[in-house]
Amino acid sequence: MGSKIKVAFFDAKDYDMVSFDEANSKGDIKIKYFETKLDEDTVKLAKGYDVVCVFVNDTVNEKVINSLVKKGVKLIALRCAGFNNVDIKAAAGKIGVVRVPAYSPYAVAEHAAALLLTSIRRIHKSYIRTKDFNFSLNGLMGFDLHGKTVGVVGTGKIGRVFIDICRGFGMNVIAYDKFPAKDADFEYVDLKEIWKKSDIISFHCPLTDETYHMVDAKSIKSMKKGVVLINTSRGALIDAEALLEGIRKRHIGAACLDVYEEEADVFFEDRSGHIFEDDTLARLISMPNVIVTSHQAFLTREALNNIAHTTLENIAEYTDTGKCSNEVRA
Ligand code: NAI
Repeated sequence: MGSKIKVAFFDAKDYDMVSFDEANSKGDIKIKYFETKLDEDTVKLAKGYDVVCVFVNDTVNEKVINSLVKKGVKLIALRCAGFNNVDIKAAAGKIGVVRVPAYSPYAVAEHAAALLLTSIRRIHKSYIRTKDFNFSLNGLMGFDLHGKTVGVVGTGKIGRVFIDICRGFGMNVIAYDKFPAKDADFEYVDLKEIWKKSDIISFHCPLTDETYHMVDAKSIKSMKKGVVLINTSRGALIDAEALLEGIRKRHIGAACLDVYEEEADVFFEDRSGHIFEDDTLARLISMPNVIVTSHQAFLTREALNNIAHTTLENIAEYTDTGKCSNEVRA
């Protein structure tokens, strides 16, 4: 790569530019910000760059990867932890892929807790009411978290912070992980038991072939009536149609969603003046017991700062040595 590394930065938002410009204040790297997402149509913009920097909803499939390689791009630098949107197998041996494995597990775990409290204490409803000077309490009854059972699926960095938060509320914690932590001081159970025993279930595992639609009509049926689901991980862990049906049938008590399986064209964008095409999401949003935030769990000052610094360090390390400690391999 040349003396000054050139980075094509896709899906750039104002807050990205602030944090990356600050982290790159010495101007070691030349960054060109593109508002558009990376996909098969926009990949042409990467011509002449050494690195593409992408986020969760950029499309980095085999076709895009081959096109990047053809243009001489050497590295895909993910500025996020999850890498389910990158075809890692297609990249192997052709182009490097690096990510930011941890930037603030607190940001995501605290957002999951914020969604939970907002939902069960009806804060989203009372906020709107009092803004309109309506001080009635009808329909605002919640329930205590103390003594309730929370099932945590995925006990990595974020899951474990979430477990600590739940314990602070006096909740009973049960957990499932495909690779249980050896130093765990909480109880692991199998998934069936998570579904059966939990009053609240929070998802903190990656999206893989195995976890795709782990919440579907069948698993919902085996959950407790009134269960509260929290998803701050990846949308496709939950079959959105099955979730909607579970809510319609009054089996699911509430859903807190920071991610949605078809979010790529919608989240991070202002669609307020548009006719909304996604009927499933529109119906979910219309439910009084569903809260949707637009993949914002990561969005804290601390997290953005860490993302920018680690991404630039990853790029520099890969450029200097041809490898990187945060490389993602097939
Ligand atoms: P991590 O890698 O520290 O933990 C993931 C855990 O999931 C590991 O303990 C792993 O063993 C477990 N796991 C793997 N396969 C599993 C399976 N089939 N079933 C159950 N557990 C399984 O990751 P971290 O940092 O805790 O992040 C978790 C997820 O949160 C990420 O994969 C990402 O999708 C999501 N995320 C969402 C953000 C947001 O803004 N909403 C921001 C950052 C991450």
